[in-house]
Amino acid sequence: MSENNTQKGFVLWLTGLSGAGKSTLAEILFEKLAATGKKCEQLDGDILRGVFPNTGFSKAARDEHIRRVGFLASRLEHHGVIVVASFISPYRESRGFVRNLCDNFIEIHVKASLDECKRRDVKGLYKKALAGEIKEFTGIDDPYESPENAEIVVNTDTQSVDESISQIMEYLKPYL
Ligand code: ADX
Repeated sequence: MSENNTQKGFVLWLTGLSGAGKSTLAEILFEKLAATGKKCEQLDGDILRGVFPNTGFSKAARDEHIRRVGFLASRLEHHGVIVVASFISPYRESRGFVRNLCDNFIEIHVKASLDECKRRDVKGLYKKALAGEIKEFTGIDDPYESPENAEIVVNTDTQSVDESISQIMEYLKPYL
């Protein structure tokens, strides 16, 4: 991709538990941002894991996965692309690694209680994890380290999708 000096890139990094609403918000944000005519790219955990199919869920595998996709996000950003990245990315240190690679890293904590994520169980994975059929499942038998200094926190337990999107778009105004 060629350099475009007229557009400043940034990375919107959505982190949170499975079922918190990352992909839903990322999809809408991507569409809204793309509608401005700016160059955008969406990187989503479930899709990227299909492209890098051998990545597992141990700490080492997740760290490697996040380093890979974080590097990709930062390269795109350096070419002026707006990147909407949604990954559980449960470890603070690896999110910090990506933050350091990027010029404009905007961390969005898509926050929902574990109870609410279990109740939603959109993909039926919590049920499987609780039954022991899936191991190393974030929030069940694997940790999630909440961000301490996220630029944006959206509470999907209490906010509607529209409210979360408005909150994020409001924050992004100076970047657009
Ligand atoms: S991350 O932890 O490495 O950032 P990523 O966001 O790419 O995870 O992928 C998470 C997706 O993988 C979940 O949305 C879910 O569909 C699927 N998945 C399968 N097994 C697990 C697991 N053990 N822990 C978390 N997610 C899992």
